[in-house]
Amino acid sequence: MSGSDIDVSTLSTYKNVTVEECAISAKINWDEKNFFGTVSYTLTAHSSPIALDTSFLNVSKITWDGQELSKWEIKERQSFQGSPLEISDVPVDVKGQLSIEFSTTSDCTGLQWLEPEQTYGKKIPFMYSQCEPIHARSIFPCFDTPAIKVPFRFKIESKYPVLVSGLPVTDSEFVQKVPIPSYLFAIASGNLESKPIGPRSHVWAEPEMVKACQWEFEADVEKQLKAAEELVFPYEWGKYDVLSLPPSFCFGGMENPVNTFATPTLIAGDRTLVNVIAHELAHSWSGNLVTNSSWDHFWLNEGWTVYLERRILGKLHGEAYRNFAAIEGWHDLVEAVNKQPAQFTKLVVGLDSSQDPDDAFSTVPYEKGSTFLWYLENLVGRDSWDAFIPKYFTKFKYKSLNTEQFIETLYENFDKQTLDQVDWNLWLHTPGLPPKPEFDQTLAIPCSELASKWMNNENINSELWKKWASVSDVKDMNPLQIIVLLNTLNSALPTLNVQNTEKLAAAVGSIGELYNLTKSRNPEVLFRWLQLAVSSGVPGSKETLAKWVGGIGRMKFVRPSYVLLNKVDHELALATFESNKNFYHAICRTMVEKDLAKSS
Ligand code: BES
Ligand code: ZN
Repeated sequence: MSGSDIDVSTLSTYKNVTVEECAISAKINWDEKNFFGTVSYTLTAHSSPIALDTSFLNVSKITWDGQELSKWEIKERQSFQGSPLEISDVPVDVKGQLSIEFSTTSDCTGLQWLEPEQTYGKKIPFMYSQCEPIHARSIFPCFDTPAIKVPFRFKIESKYPVLVSGLPVTDSEFVQKVPIPSYLFAIASGNLESKPIGPRSHVWAEPEMVKACQWEFEADVEKQLKAAEELVFPYEWGKYDVLSLPPSFCFGGMENPVNTFATPTLIAGDRTLVNVIAHELAHSWSGNLVTNSSWDHFWLNEGWTVYLERRILGKLHGEAYRNFAAIEGWHDLVEAVNKQPAQFTKLVVGLDSSQDPDDAFSTVPYEKGSTFLWYLENLVGRDSWDAFIPKYFTKFKYKSLNTEQFIETLYENFDKQTLDQVDWNLWLHTPGLPPKPEFDQTLAIPCSELASKWMNNENINSELWKKWASVSDVKDMNPLQIIVLLNTLNSALPTLNVQNTEKLAAAVGSIGELYNLTKSRNPEVLFRWLQLAVSSGVPGSKETLAKWVGGIGRMKFVRPSYVLLNKVDHELALATFESNKNFYHAICRTMVEKDLAKSS
């Protein structure tokens, strides 16, 4: 099968070493804004030279079992892959301790340093990491591939409280006994306080925010953990905590072990965004215990996680809800497939070494992957599938696997005749949409009925809506239904044949006013509403979108917002980006720059 077993996104010689442990002893230097110290690997090299990944790092000294090595060099930079650190005098086939003294530089892509003004409290600076997929190499020399997993020890000095992807032993020492890949290395430090949100969970945030965070999560986290444990097996990481970051964080959530990193936009004041927590905690099994062996097989991380996330929600809110979440997911998949280059719409993408995994990132592995698992569940039957889930996670826990190993495991567990019905090539290696499953429409019907009342030519052109539209249209709808309503409206917009653009803008403006969308604190709702408003020319809406996008860093909203702004008002898009680019995380800044260059 294609989708090779080699990780093309690392320049390290990871296939020729056995690594047993990683210990990081380092200091956060707030004045210089760098992170420096020593990383020590317990390892055996099977050939020489060996290479580790680095990106914009300084290396000052390397020792082997305490003896200084001299035959090493940082090779020339190869674009986003960084600069391999090649070491020629590590003895072959003997186990020892390789220690590397390093420091980060101002070009570091994996850390963001925030000035006090960029925090809620405005008094104390903040720093945090985001390593997935390949930014760990900009923080410390490593075998930066998900194929290598080792236990970690951390000793971190900082003026302010520190969190890492391990359990605390003292204020400055942490351990992660479960083997983890480099992309799950995480660190954050700043003015952090915690409050309990469950028997094994705390939320961490700046003191000004921590109470609101506690309220947002405390009703759901433990229930979700228990639901996940029923589906798979007991949680293995000890504590499950959530760190609510400052607003520039570029993801909704990142499944760093022990401490999920989360965007503060989840704090909507209504507990409606806890599905993101369900997603991140589901990664405690899919991704963190059982890991994709390269970014080609990213769907094994994210597709499985979306699948588990919706199973958790199904257990807590019923199968109709699970189906409804899958309907929304299908909508996102259709959009993503239309936007992405064909290669990136395959489940197994087949990256080559010149392709940055950050560029290949899309909704496709999430939704095509979870649709594939949904399809398999229906094919073999729910009961046999549910018996398979813990077997799969037991077989591969603490390991990394590729798609082929996943398929082999299916054949070990289900009869060949059933599995031979699957068109593997279609699901795994063919671009575009997969076959659409049948979803239960119970919760979707009110959304599509209301959407079609709005989105027809007669309604808009003759302003019929003035006679019937009222707030009671949406009074029985939950936030996910509002989101699906808005998705449907957004998709219907280009199909309208409007004679008078002002009439369209007036109708859409009323949707926002009547249904109280214009001031929604739920960014999923607000974003879709602004998309609809800007696309239909509601006065003032593009300025509102520009202002909003200057205050949030989550790429899911930031990137499409700039693409849309650029379409309707190129100058406004550029000016907005110029004045906010230092607010964004380096990853986000780079992606928006690429998007703007592509679409102008
Ligand atoms: N692991 C991802 C975030 C990620 C993916 C970071 C690839 C870097 C590279 C995380 O679990 C995620 O998918 N977050 C989503 C949440 C959602 C699907 C509920 C997000 O940030 O939007
Ligand atoms: Zn995820």
